[in-house]
Amino acid sequence: MNSKPPVDPQGKPLTANPQLLKWVSDMAQLTKPDAIHWVDGSEAEKDALTAKCVEEKILEPLNQDKLPGCYLHRSNPNDVARVEQLTFICTPTKDEAGPKNNWMAPKEAYDKLSKLFDGSMKGRTMYVIPYVMGPVGSKMSKIGVEITDSPYVVLNMRIMTRMGAVALDALGDSNEFNRGLHSVLDCNPERRYICHFPQDNTIWSIGSGYGGNVLLGKKCLALRIGSYLGRKEGWLAEHMLILGVESPEGEMTYVAAAFPSACGKTNFAMMIPPKRFKGWKIWTVGDDIAWMRVGDDGRLYAVNPEAGYFGVAPGTSNESNPNAMKTVMRDTIFTNVARTPDGDVWWEGKDGPVPPELIDWKGNPWTSKSTEKAAHPNSRFTAPARNNPALSKFWDDPNGVPISAIIFGGRRATTVPLVMQAFNWLNGVFFGATLGSETTAAAAGQVGVIRRDPFAMLPFCGYNMGDYFTHWLEMQSRITNPPKVFLVNWFRKDKDGKFLWPGFGENMRVLKWIVDRARLRVGGQETLFGWVPKAGDLDLSGLNIPSEKVDEATHIDLDEWKTELEGLQGFFKELGPTMPRALELFRELLGARLEAVQAAAKRPLGT
Ligand code: OXD
Ligand code: MN
Repeated sequence: MNSKPPVDPQGKPLTANPQLLKWVSDMAQLTKPDAIHWVDGSEAEKDALTAKCVEEKILEPLNQDKLPGCYLHRSNPNDVARVEQLTFICTPTKDEAGPKNNWMAPKEAYDKLSKLFDGSMKGRTMYVIPYVMGPVGSKMSKIGVEITDSPYVVLNMRIMTRMGAVALDALGDSNEFNRGLHSVLDCNPERRYICHFPQDNTIWSIGSGYGGNVLLGKKCLALRIGSYLGRKEGWLAEHMLILGVESPEGEMTYVAAAFPSACGKTNFAMMIPPKRFKGWKIWTVGDDIAWMRVGDDGRLYAVNPEAGYFGVAPGTSNESNPNAMKTVMRDTIFTNVARTPDGDVWWEGKDGPVPPELIDWKGNPWTSKSTEKAAHPNSRFTAPARNNPALSKFWDDPNGVPISAIIFGGRRATTVPLVMQAFNWLNGVFFGATLGSETTAAAAGQVGVIRRDPFAMLPFCGYNMGDYFTHWLEMQSRITNPPKVFLVNWFRKDKDGKFLWPGFGENMRVLKWIVDRARLRVGGQETLFGWVPKAGDLDLSGLNIPSEKVDEATHIDLDEWKTELEGLQGFFKELGPTMPRALELFRELLGARLEAVQAAAKRPLGT
């Protein structure tokens, strides 16, 4: 059994970190692999692992002329999304996890999962993946080590993180690293658990091979454990994209935006402005996660902890996201998409005519007459950030980028207008805390139902949600030069169920207003709930839709808001005693103001 840590060209071990070596040896004793492979992150290692995955039919080579370095993986059909019902926060008390998380006592979780991990890697190789989340050398970054028996996980982690020797080097002899243990076991939903131990900086994941459950740097470390560490250490770990808006004059404004899973974060982060915005550019810093700290100047600085994109394939096209299409043209792992006879990939919503014949995501022949989808609705691409033509040159900057605006947005058919700016930080936290969205295929369960998804963090907050709201409120005193906060909704529908706003690149029109508001150089109209653009503030030139549609998309309907505020009362109650009183009082204040306005509208003048 090769259990030696990697060596440098002189044969010197790349790590002698005693805590790391001990932990790896303990985990090997538990899981009993046939061999241990310390991942060094080299090209030669990638080639060898890829070849092994092809031989074992874990990966299928795609057409290497069209898609060099690209491979297709088909997961077990029972394992295609995050499993929120099997995801646990294992804090010493249930209250620390809060009412919105599944909780298991740490001892119970360790005992239960130890039995499953016992011998789980027999006949397999254990891979030890040291990785850095965030730019190497940044004080905002964190180190993790993931132990896994899946070479598919290794190849995905290679794209999604900075990994291998570079991480061991950054870790040195420190004991400060996240300990992640993963085994696919027999991929049985009955034996599937994703357990987080925030106090131990530990994650144990078993029984799944799906990205969100097993690429432990992403949702598990960067968000669940990250949010816990953020509260403890005074920073924010958020489910947010980060982008830079560059004006024709070269002025850069950075924006972070939280939208729930599969609501278009990747599209927004890679947006190409429409013709009307000649000379404007959007630069991607990150498409899913932001770690934000207060800088010496009192501004909020953000880094993207990841190094790649684990994006939803269906709906991605040259129309919706040309930059993503270019990004996935090489060195990309596709999971659960369909395959064309000539070894290209296909998914619902991709450009061009539907191919008459395909191999579907389960590996079965498919024709355009088939009633089933060819690609799974949550099929994914794992692609390196460096492939993105719109990648910001500051994406890897250890200092991060200064954030001027924070945007919250959900998928709402009614109520929420196209864009609205919060009056102040409390109002902004209220926008985040009350974010709602229709569910999508990114998580297992019913699709299309409205659920409250505060800060788009419902499935990712590693501690009590009420305490998380308090942390956001408290950050105000640290961020002396705070970003402005906005709420957007690209998904409002008319009475016939048709979208009112074209979305995609046209969202630049809204983003431009946001940038101008953040820089205090455009007016706005005060409403009960926030500032909205005045007539004429949004640049609509060249936009080929009737102005009534834009009016409808931006309209604030008081009756809808009355229902909204009433609904929020129940949601706030569900959060229990940690729910900050300030947010409930703010809700009541809005309700009282709304009632007064409605009563005044009904009262004849002079009475
Ligand atoms: C994701 C998700 O994969 O939010 O990014 O589900
Ligand atoms: Mn996400």
